[in-house]
Amino acid sequence: MEQGEPQDGALRAGSRKAVGGAVQRRLFLKTTVRILAVAAALLAAWAADGPAQPLPFSHKLHAGTLKVPCKMCHPTPDPGESMTIAPPSVCMQCHSAIKADSPAIQKLAQYASQGKAVPWVRIYEIPAWVAFSHRAHIEARNTCEDCHGKVAERDVLYREVNLNMGTCRDCHAGKRASVACNFCHEPR
Ligand code: HEC
Ligand code: HEC
Ligand code: HEC
Ligand code: HEC
Ligand code: HEC
Repeated sequence: MEQGEPQDGALRAGSRKAVGGAVQRRLFLKTTVRILAVAAALLAAWAADGPAQPLPFSHKLHAGTLKVPCKMCHPTPDPGESMTIAPPSVCMQCHSAIKADSPAIQKLAQYASQGKAVPWVRIYEIPAWVAFSHRAHIEARNTCEDCHGKVAERDVLYREVNLNMGTCRDCHAGKRASVACNFCHEPR
C-alpha cells in the first residue's frame, strides 16, 4: 500500500479551492475512492486473519497435530440441530495438567471455575430465520470441510467459505437437494 496517498490527495484538494468546482469534485472523488480502497483492504485483511478471540486457541494444534476429534469439542446434542462449542470444563480435562501455568490457560481455568462460557467471536452464523440443521447435513454425508474449509490446518479460523444463500443453493442444485424458497425459508 502506498503510504500517505489519501492524505496527499486531501491536501491537494484543499490547496486548489480557487480552481473551481469540477477539479475539486474530481479530487474529492479520488480521495473518497482511495479511502474506500484502504477500508476494503483492511476489511479483507481482517477477514483473512479472523477476528481476535478471547483466547489464542488453535485448531491446527488441537485438531491437526494432536488429532483431537471435532466431536469432542463440537458435539451435536440430541435433541438439537447445532454443533455447539464445548464449555471450558471439557478443555480442562487436559488443561488442568497441560500448560496450567500459562496465562491463557489460567484465564481458561477462571472461566471454568466460574462456570462461564468463553465469549468466542462467532465465525459462521446465518440469520435465525433461515432453516438449517447440522444433523441433517451430516446425515446427508456433507463434510465439515465442504462448509468450513480446512479447519485442521488453521491456527485462526476465518470465514473462508462464504456460506451465503448462493453457496447453499449451488450445493443443493449440484446434489439434487431442493432449491425451493420454502425449503430454507418459512412461507410468509
Ligand atoms: C486432548 C487434550 C486437550 C484438550 C481437550 C484441549 N487442549 Fe488445549 N492444548 C493441549 C496441548 C497438548 C497443548 C500444547 C501444550 C504445549 O504447547 O506444550 C494445548 C495448548 C493450548 C493453548 C496454548 C497455551 C499456551 O499458552 O501455549 C490454548 C490457549 C489452549 N490449548 C486452549 C484450549 C481450549 C480453549 C480448549 C477447549 C475448547 C482446549 N485447549 C482443549 C491439549 C488439549
Ligand atoms: C479441542 C477443542 C476443539 C476441537 C478438537 C475442534 N474445535 Fe472447532 N472450535 C473450538 C473452539 C474453542 C472454537 C471457538 C474459537 C474459534 O473460532 O477458533 C471453535 C470454532 C469452530 C468453528 C467456528 C464456529 C463459529 O461459527 O463461530 C468451526 C466451523 C469449527 N470449530 C470446526 C471444527 C472442525 C471441523 C473440527 C475438527 C476438524 C474442530 N472444529 C475441532 C474447539 C475445538
Ligand atoms: C452444509 C454446510 C455445513 C456442514 C456440512 C457443516 N457445517 Fe458447521 N455450520 C454451518 C452453518 C450454516 C453454520 C451457522 C449456523 C447458524 O448460525 O445457526 C455452522 C456453524 C457451526 C458451528 C458454530 C456453532 C453452531 O452450531 O452454530 C460449529 C462449531 C460448526 N459449524 C462445526 C461444524 C463441524 C464440526 C462440522 C462437521 C462435523 C460441520 N460444522 C459441518 C454449515 C455447515
Ligand atoms: C455442501 C453441500 C450443501 C451446502 C453448502 C448446503 N446444503 Fe443444505 N443440504 C444438502 C444436502 C445434500 C441435503 C439433503 C437433501 C435431502 O435429504 O434430500 C440438504 C438439506 C437441507 C435442508 C433440509 C434439512 C432437513 O431437515 O431435512 C435444509 C433446510 C437445508 N439443507 C438448508 C441449507 C442452508 C440454509 C444452507 C446454507 C447455509 C445449506 N443448506 C447449505 C447439501 C448442502
Ligand atoms: C438452500 C437454502 C436457501 C434457499 C433454497 C433459498 N434461500 Fe434465501 N437465504 C438463504 C440464506 C442462508 C440466507 C441468508 C444469507 C446471509 O445472511 O448471508 C437467505 C437470505 C434471503 C433473503 C434476504 C436477503 C438479504 O440480503 O438479506 C431473501 C429475500 C431470500 N433469501 C429470498 C429467497 C427466495 C425468494 C428464494 C427462492 C427463489 C430463496 N431465498 C431460496 C438460504 C436459502
